[in-house]
Amino acid sequence: MQTANTNTVWSSYIHTPSLLAKHRELRFRDENADALKKLLAIEDGRSIIEVGCGPGTLCHKLQQWYPTTSVSGFDIDEGFIEYAQNSYAGVHYFAADANLINTQQRYDYTISHTIFEYMSPDCFFRANNELLKDDGVMIIISNVQSINHDEELRTPPIPLLQAYYDTVKDLKSVHSHVVDRQNYQERDIITSLDRYGFEPIGIHYYANEIIPCNETPEKRAVIMDMYKEIQHSMFVTSIRKYGKIDQERYTQILAEIDSYYDEYSKQLDSKWPLHIDLLRIVKAKKKCT
Ligand SMILES: C[S@@+](CC[C@H](N)C(=O)[O-])C[C@H]1O[C@@H](n2cnc3c(N)ncnc32)[C@H](O)[C@@H]1O
Repeated sequence: MQTANTNTVWSSYIHTPSLLAKHRELRFRDENADALKKLLAIEDGRSIIEVGCGPGTLCHKLQQWYPTTSVSGFDIDEGFIEYAQNSYAGVHYFAADANLINTQQRYDYTISHTIFEYMSPDCFFRANNELLKDDGVMIIISNVQSINHDEELRTPPIPLLQAYYDTVKDLKSVHSHVVDRQNYQERDIITSLDRYGFEPIGIHYYANEIIPCNETPEKRAVIMDMYKEIQHSMFVTSIRKYGKIDQERYTQILAEIDSYYDEYSKQLDSKWPLHIDLLRIVKAKKKCT
């Protein structure tokens, strides 16, 4: 199997590994396991590989939910793979580019979560085809729609931070300059499946409440940490891209971000954020060759 070139585009510019892992811990939390397992319908005791596993959280959950299944995951981004290897035991993580994947080892299942929309269909389906046994099952999970009422957490009214962002001309491009996200319709996927050698099994939707009310103090802390880290990550990414900020101001802005979220935590009950994602789960069988 060929490994990727040194590459940390996603983990350096889009989401830090720990931030993405926090979000995925909430999305794939154990309270959702029964509902998700029903839709995934994976048979325990088989082999499964995640294409573009990022920080490795979904693989880790699958390993826990299907204890006799052998779980592997790969990603082109070595920053994510290093994080996954250091954070989760019992899963085989490795760095590789899906465009180049070429292996003798075949799996009963491939799974992917929010990666299909960032890759060319040719590359995505070729990699899944390459990795699956004949009759193996491909599972594609995408986030197709979000409902967010968490503006004060996503765009906090911190004057110094806002003043900095006002100096950044094209803020939107900060996070989108390295990725190009496609929004595929259901019909596009169905047509592609046949073209790339897959037979549809079914498509399901799952409304995933990322932040349910009345969480335990530990989970509340994770939620607030996640929002705090989103701000840190956006700010630091902007600095990386646009540079030019003096050290004192930099430190002061980071401290203000921290204190904003610490204060917010104290009022969380009355300002509980809503964040629901609609996940689409596509399942298809590889046609025998
Ligand atoms: C939105 S992230 C999702 C990560 C992970 N599936 C998760 O949900 O936490 C997209 C991922 O696709 C990976 N990726 C993009 N192109 C890839 C390629 N050619 N081969 C392997 N991974 C790739 C990125 O490095 C990134 O980790």
